[in-house]
Amino acid sequence: VSSLRKALEDKIVIDRERLTKLKKEHGAVPIDKITLDQMVRGMKSVKALLTETSRLDPFKGIRFRGLSIPECQVQLPAKYREPLPESMFWLLLTGSVPTQEQVEELRGELASKAKIPEKVKSLLASLPKNMHPLTQLSLGVLALGENSYFDTAYNKGMKKSEYWKPMLEDSINLVAKVPTIAATIYRNVYKDGKVSEPREDLDWAENYSRMLGWEDTNFFEMMRLNLCLHCDHEGGNVSTHAAHLVGSALSDAYKSYSAGLNGLAGPLHGLANQECLKWLLDLRQIVGDDPTDAAVEVYVRQNLRDGKIIPGYGHPVLRQTDPRFIAMLDFANKVIEDCPTLKAVEICYKVVPKILKDIGDIKNPYPNVNAISGAVMYYYGLSELEFYTAVFGVSRTLGIAANMVWDRALGLPIERPGSLTLENLEEIGQKS
Ligand code: MLT
Repeated sequence: VSSLRKALEDKIVIDRERLTKLKKEHGAVPIDKITLDQMVRGMKSVKALLTETSRLDPFKGIRFRGLSIPECQVQLPAKYREPLPESMFWLLLTGSVPTQEQVEELRGELASKAKIPEKVKSLLASLPKNMHPLTQLSLGVLALGENSYFDTAYNKGMKKSEYWKPMLEDSINLVAKVPTIAATIYRNVYKDGKVSEPREDLDWAENYSRMLGWEDTNFFEMMRLNLCLHCDHEGGNVSTHAAHLVGSALSDAYKSYSAGLNGLAGPLHGLANQECLKWLLDLRQIVGDDPTDAAVEVYVRQNLRDGKIIPGYGHPVLRQTDPRFIAMLDFANKVIEDCPTLKAVEICYKVVPKILKDIGDIKNPYPNVNAISGAVMYYYGLSELEFYTAVFGVSRTLGIAANMVWDRALGLPIERPGSLTLENLEEIGQKS
């Protein structure tokens, strides 16, 4: 048994007891209440999900198993400066910071499982080039799910308490292979269709980067950071929640993650990073490569007068600058020089919150990670905007996979909330 499996099993024993005790002693304690307004506004921030991997504070941003992004950057094992996504996966799964040796073991396992079956390659090659890369990724993942460990074990009548084990095997397999599927799509759609084989001596992010076609150490570091930053955002975001919901019906890891990707494909979720970069490139067309703050301000105000939103600003939960944005900006400031798109990002960061605050009635005038992630990838020559959501999707595999394992480990049941009609709401309204 690998050290990951052992560490996870130990933690599962403890956390199952914690949950049983909580249910027994405090099962009737109210957690939250929901107003009519919250119900018809997407249940924003209503606390209704049990998610162990991360928690989002509206003002401080994401904590991965309690650790902030800067803490992860200091504590998680790295090859150079940025944490290895393998360390992040370990942290999300087990709740503890791994040692270098533990990460190396997991790295080796993922790299050894990174090749994808010929059938999946042929399927991807047969897809129309104009099909969005995320749709292709979702299809590729479904095809990968043939003979899932979970389905096989379930059909053999495995005990419920053991469900997490085949779910973990599927999850590891999924995490190992998703970068290869994504890179194959990228090479098919935008390049010559030739993809290098994943190498057993490389880490997850470097393998992915090389399969995409990059050989630059700074690009690998950027990818390590990018893949760590987008991995998880507590349980209620559309992709994680969709995967959790589908998995709650005991659908396997591939079907559940694929459902998450289909949610990520929406412009209000993962597609936003593509839209943000498009907006920044349009801005550059108008204000030039070395604009003043005032010129950017004029452009932003005109956009708002035209009834457009400023992509990358605001967030359903966050009420401060997204720490993922800050981590990316910090990376860019350290490593990248003279990039006009990133200059535009920085000027926007200075002027947009001020303008949005002037308008009033805006809950969060600050940037989220999408306001910068595309600009950094663009700088490195990853200039196919439609592919950006697929990079996000590869990263989100880590959080979704870890959650699927925990959902089965804690024996979480099928998710089935109730619903009301307008008439019911009117009755409730009248009685209040
Ligand atoms: C995410 O990373 O999932 C996005 O910031 C959206 C969200 O948290 O709802």
